[in-house]
Amino acid sequence: MHPLRYLWAAVALVALVVATDLINVLSDQEIVDLALLSQPERLEPEGEFLAPFLIERVPGTEGNRQVQRFILDKARELGWFVETDSFTQDTPIGSIDFTNIIVTKHPQAPVRLVLAAHFDSKLFDNDVFIGATDSAVPCALLFDLAFSLDTFLDQYPDPYLTVQLVFFDGEESFRDGGYADFIWGSKHLAAYWEQPPLFGRAGNTTLTRPPLQRIDLMVLLDLIGAPNPSFQDYFGNTSGYFQALAGLEQRLNRLFLVSTHRSFFNTKTKFRGSILDDHVPFIQRNVPVLHLIPHPFPAVWHKPSDNADALDMLVIHDVAVLMRIFVASYLRAHPAPKPSSRAMSPRLV
Ligand SMILES: *[C@@H]1O[C@H](CO)[C@@H](O)[C@H](O)[C@H]1NC(C)=O
Ligand SMILES: *[C@@H]1O[C@H](CO)[C@@H](O)[C@H](O)[C@H]1NC(C)=O
Ligand SMILES: [Zn+2]
Repeated sequence: MHPLRYLWAAVALVALVVATDLINVLSDQEIVDLALLSQPERLEPEGEFLAPFLIERVPGTEGNRQVQRFILDKARELGWFVETDSFTQDTPIGSIDFTNIIVTKHPQAPVRLVLAAHFDSKLFDNDVFIGATDSAVPCALLFDLAFSLDTFLDQYPDPYLTVQLVFFDGEESFRDGGYADFIWGSKHLAAYWEQPPLFGRAGNTTLTRPPLQRIDLMVLLDLIGAPNPSFQDYFGNTSGYFQALAGLEQRLNRLFLVSTHRSFFNTKTKFRGSILDDHVPFIQRNVPVLHLIPHPFPAVWHKPSDNADALDMLVIHDVAVLMRIFVASYLRAHPAPKPSSRAMSPRLV
């Protein structure tokens, strides 16, 4: 056998161990308690977390700035650490201001589990486009996660790993001009995060590392909220996490904590092909990514009908519970490494 074969066998084994760990790290009682934190009305079209996103929010417009203010206000209400990444670029429709917003529970924690979604909506010249699934619901899910898990996260006052939310601006193209006219925000943030921070604590190699190297895993949510999503196993190197989500979904099902009984995860076949989205600039820089986007895309994709009427509240509720359980399991499975292993070698997944 070629030596590389052993390496891949080892990688596959590690992925399997990670998946099993994550699926079983919480007790049934803990899962029930976390699921009971749901307040589904907050994720309804008129709800606290979703309604503010259901407006046109094209980069550089007042609607976009209004949504930025909402994200900043909510993040401050949470009491998490807020950063912005603002920049101006020439686009096919002229010079546009963009702002990515980053919200972190414990900024001093060396390593981050990043949960991301884009808050801008696509420009259509002759149609009103709200993008309820693209990506208003994913943004609302990030806030639902943060507010519902905040107390759980407080149980880890000085954690090794923390939760970081990223709200990307400018995911959508203006004139469908290919890669150059696309994912403006994530391209900027990924490049910016290659640099060491301006205000890292001198002498502390943990905190002066470029933020990109502090990402343990990036989970990117997109096009969520329509009925019958089918999430695919996109990347072999994060397949363990994909399987863990599917396994946690099964546990929730057995405990009667989800409402839809059809699995959202296609665990049978690996996905072939590629999807261009905000993860691309991060994948290119070797960040492990779990892409939570259904394939096929919702039928309303990039149509004016991608509005509140397209949403399936049971699906949204189930994804919210599942994400909460996944993140809680992830935190529990990643206690601080023993002092001897404190050298932050990237983990294989
Ligand atoms: C560096 O920062 C981390 C995270 O806040 C902290 O745990 C560690 O003790 C610091 N190390 C030094 C040498 O100050
Ligand atoms: C993970 O897999 C993707 C797709 O196969 C690849 O592009 C990426 O470079 C891999 N990342 C790492 C850290 O190996
Ligand atoms: Zn879109």
